Amino acid sequence: MSNNHKYSTRRKFIVQAALAGAGLVLTSPLNRAFSKANNPQKMARIFITGSSDGLGLLAAQSLTDQGHQVVLHARNAKRKEDTLKKIQVAEAILIGDLSSIDETKALAAEVNKLGTFDAVIHNAGVYNAPAQQIFSVNVLAPYILTSLIQKPKRLIYLTSDMHRSGKPKFEYFKTGIEQINYSDSKLHVLMLCKAVARKWKDVYSNSVNPGWVPTKMGGAGAPDDLQKGYETQVWLATSNDKQAKVSGHYFYHQKTGRSNPTADDHLLQEQFLELCQEITGVPFAQ
Ligand SMILES: NC(=O)c1ccc[n+]([C@@H]2O[C@H](COP(=O)([O-])OP(=O)(O)OC[C@H]3O[C@@H](n4cnc5c(N)ncnc54)[C@H](OP(=O)(O)O)[C@@H]3O)[C@@H](O)[C@H]2O)c1
Repeated sequence: MSNNHKYSTRRKFIVQAALAGAGLVLTSPLNRAFSKANNPQKMARIFITGSSDGLGLLAAQSLTDQGHQVVLHARNAKRKEDTLKKIQVAEAILIGDLSSIDETKALAAEVNKLGTFDAVIHNAGVYNAPAQQIFSVNVLAPYILTSLIQKPKRLIYLTSDMHRSGKPKFEYFKTGIEQINYSDSKLHVLMLCKAVARKWKDVYSNSVNPGWVPTKMGGAGAPDDLQKGYETQVWLATSNDKQAKVSGHYFYHQKTGRSNPTADDHLLQEQFLELCQEITGVPFAQ
């Protein structure tokens, strides 16, 4: 057995073990080929931020199992190495720390070098982190990447039920960022999603509340179904169902729901985009 073959077999085993631990079954290459042959939908190319772990990695695995082409993203070279041990069929793994505006801009350039994507899933997020990091990763990074990556056909933004208690707090964007919390950041990303849906009529832009699920962020005791936590993103990214080809919606487990009406306010959306532009130096692509 060659070293390459041994390495690939070992990687396959590690993914199998990890997914078995998460209650999931890894599809074999044979099953994947079968699924491809029997899947009448067109295969898509998808970029997923924060796909070194958690829901991003699980969505990536599910998409590749269905025969789609996926480009992953990890925060640094070490996390890229870790990711390579968990998934073997990704087209590429790009690197960039989303808490840095410069690295996020560079990541967008790397994505564009690979050509256009059918869908981008803005999945990366932090919860237990200093306010500046929450703001940069959860709010500024999706803004920068949305503005700089060549328009895909579909955009999916990970928000949270906690956005309901979020407030715009625009007065703290430039000074006083420590006032911004996770709930606020998830309201902001919903605002971004809805602004994109309003302005880009040729793109389906939707957001997903995955539920409280047992990832590194959710913790081992999280009560919601892990599989349902990533299925909606996968469906929105690839499905031809009428219900998936909509824009400006807030989804929970493949059903649209009511979100905080603050996110629908056009004036607030405009103020939000302007502030993000001022802070990042990146204009919102019209
Ligand atoms: N889990 C839940 O219960 C829950 C509930 C509601 C909403 N959500 C949302 O769902 C999304 C995915 O969450 P999850 O539960 O899968 O979280 P997770 O397991 O903590 O994974 C988060 C992913 O984002 C990446 N990331 C974090 N900071 C980064 C940075 N500075 N640069 C680059 N990548 C970074 C992480 O990289 P590392 O692996 O290197 O840390 C990881 O790949 C998030 O947007 C979260 O807010 C989750």
